[in-house]
Amino acid sequence: MPSISVTINGTTYTDDVEPRLLFVHYLRDRLGLTGTNIGCDTSNCGACTVMVDGSSVKSCTMLAVQADGTEVTTIQGLADGEWHPLQKAFNTEHALQCGYCTPGMIMASVDLLERNPDPSEEEVRDGLEGNLCRCTGYQNIVKAVRSAAAEMRQQEVGA
Ligand code: FES
Ligand code: FES
Repeated sequence: MPSISVTINGTTYTDDVEPRLLFVHYLRDRLGLTGTNIGCDTSNCGACTVMVDGSSVKSCTMLAVQADGTEVTTIQGLADGEWHPLQKAFNTEHALQCGYCTPGMIMASVDLLERNPDPSEEEVRDGLEGNLCRCTGYQNIVKAVRSAAAEMRQQEVGA
């Protein structure tokens, strides 16, 4: 069985894994990082989105063996002493209903705002097109992402 070493939310894990094990199952079932959700079996919903080496990835579309040597952030590693601006904005803008899509939406938004710190409404919608919300909360999700972007730009100026 192959051995992998992967750093997740700042902790390095070394494990033997089945070659066919999906990364999302490694996160949830092996490490107990159940903040990363599974919402489909077709790579469509984005509920399983995490950051791998700085880019958002649907963790159901990669194998655990492919994570070997990477640095990963999941929703559970996003807060740094306090909530990330995106987490705060999703809360204040009521950008969730059942919350099932939220971890994936937030992780995809982290990537989006790294690439475009001041996205238009249209650009947020485009950037999050790989993430589905069954509660159709898109209006407030877009508002939350733009509000977090403004907050992050403000922090950048103050830094
Ligand atoms: S569970 Fe990964 S895209 Fe739906
Ligand atoms: S808040 Fe329920 S799926 Fe998005």
